Amino acid sequence: MFRKVFKIGLSLAVIGLIVFVGLLVTDGKEDITLQKPSDTAMMSAERGELLLGLAGCVNCHTDVKNDGAVLAGGRALETPFGTFYAPNISSDTANGIGNWSEEDFVRALRHGRRPDGANYFPAFPYVAYTRMTDGDMLAIRTAIMARPAEAGPNKPHDIGFPFNQRWTMRFWKLLHFDAGTFENDSAQSAAWNRGAYISEAVAHCGECHTPRWPSGGLKRGAWLSGTANGPEGEMAPNLTQDEDTGLGGWTDPDLAFLLTDGLKIDGDVVGSVMYEVVEHGTSKLPEDDIAAIVEYLKSLPPVANPDAPSAQGF
Ligand code: HEC
Ligand code: HEC
Repeated sequence: MFRKVFKIGLSLAVIGLIVFVGLLVTDGKEDITLQKPSDTAMMSAERGELLLGLAGCVNCHTDVKNDGAVLAGGRALETPFGTFYAPNISSDTANGIGNWSEEDFVRALRHGRRPDGANYFPAFPYVAYTRMTDGDMLAIRTAIMARPAEAGPNKPHDIGFPFNQRWTMRFWKLLHFDAGTFENDSAQSAAWNRGAYISEAVAHCGECHTPRWPSGGLKRGAWLSGTANGPEGEMAPNLTQDEDTGLGGWTDPDLAFLLTDGLKIDGDVVGSVMYEVVEHGTSKLPEDDIAAIVEYLKSLPPVANPDAPSAQGF
């Protein structure tokens, strides 16, 4: 009996090892062939600045609480797995990304991979950014390079074993990550597609407003239906059209007003994390982009999520 159990156990271990080694071997660094827009204005520092704010890069990579320099990193990001410290992504060549090639930069955002081939933790929301176009990524890079180099050193993450093991991220990626640019849905209007691109790829509304599995992966079936365990312990409301807990009761102007001025329908200022999204991101967008986001949000089928806070604002 014992021998039989031992043999089965050994076979399973061998199979496990083969699968494991197989996966290790297949986890290579992606080749990047850049697809640059023909209109160079699309990659200008000015456009990049808008995207840098809208994508939250400045929010996460600046330690505002401790008066840190812009993009010099150091902001603590509390998660159920421990505290991540956003690194320095300024143009500094020692601690920042001043030495990175365009390909290195695009690979990081599109594939969640470091220039040396190691995987990033998804606390860096590349799950969303992967949907951005090369042109938009490179515009962000132009803006970063045009800003001053900040020498601030990087702070190691404070995460316990086994979550601090980067190599485990290759398995996480297999489960929860699908690299590739946003694809237009031809059944929808141009404005809807623009709104979906801004919301899903750039402004990554889903990273905060979608519930997660215990593994930290997004529950895509409950897209944007809110979560009680949002960023930095804050609750992120249900953004679907659910009448009771979602945005069902918000009119188009209500939503546009929140995105441009940060005021909710009850007249309160929206909470801190979302306020940053508005202040550095959506408030700077032209009217037609705001209308596009609203059209996208209004199209979300209602999802009742009893675990999420209500978006009614009362
Ligand atoms: C929610 C917070 C958050 C946002 C938003 C965010 N990042 Fe990060 N970023 C991180 C964290 C945390 C890491 C470290 C990941 C790791 O160690 O695996 C990181 C890592 C990086 C790195 C790798 C730096 C290095 O030294 O290897 C780059 C480049 C980067 N981010 C660029 C960006 C850009 C560009 C944006 C906006 C498009 C952005 N990040 C938005 C949290 C964030
Ligand atoms: C960094 C995390 C984060 C991101 C990114 C984010 N949100 Fe939020 N959002 C929040 C949190 C947290 C709240 C709750 C704030 C509060 O309690 O007042 C919120 C509140 C809101 C509300 C108000 C609902 C209510 O009843 O209070 C709306 C609408 C909203 N977000 C829409 C969006 C849209 C659209 C996007 C993408 C363009 C987005 N959010 C991106 C975290 C985020």
